[in-house]
Amino acid sequence: MVLETVAVALWAMLPAYVPNNAAVLAGGGRPIDGGRTWRGKRLLGDGKTWRGTAVGTAVGAALALGLNAVGPAVADALGVSLPTFPVVAAVSLPLGAMLGDILASFLKRRTGRQRGAPFPVVDQLDFAVVALALTAPAVPGWFFDTFLDPPAVLVAVFVLTPALHVGTNGIAYLLGLKDEPW
Ligand code: CTP
Ligand code: MG
Repeated sequence: MVLETVAVALWAMLPAYVPNNAAVLAGGGRPIDGGRTWRGKRLLGDGKTWRGTAVGTAVGAALALGLNAVGPAVADALGVSLPTFPVVAAVSLPLGAMLGDILASFLKRRTGRQRGAPFPVVDQLDFAVVALALTAPAVPGWFFDTFLDPPAVLVAVFVLTPALHVGTNGIAYLLGLKDEPW
């Protein structure tokens, strides 16, 4: 039961987890805010680029479609039932993840945090919250009709997401892919 809840939470959120990591690898080029400032501070900063956002969204969407293809085999092997991603969810999950991260940078700049400064809790959850907030109205019923025990899955998402975020960013930092370990 716990295994199934964890498996479903991870599976459902994978298309929202991967975009940020893809953006780290793909980032660079023109910043979304075009260098604009608001009240003396950058609107978003150089860490949010068009290329990172586009590649992150595309990689997440492609992953969701890939998960749809292998889902039945994985579900069989694990003995659990896994959700599939309607095309709209395949896009709204990664797009929401990128928007959440952009919103967090907007808030970081407004609160005087420089690019790369840590913003505990917000850094770890922004992408998951906005990914689900965008997907819920975009694909009505997806979350609550798909999962056997949606509240348990939600709890798992909010426990696993920070742990995974800390873990993967720590690894990216150790590999020299990221400037800070958060
Ligand atoms: N990145 C990007 N576009 C995005 C998100 C991330 O290009 N929408 C790339 C940038 O190269 C960025 C790196 O991924 O520097 C790491 O992402 P993140 O930690 O979110 O950005 P920071 O540089 O730390 O900036 P901020 O303080 O605004 O979060
Ligand atoms: Mg950062």
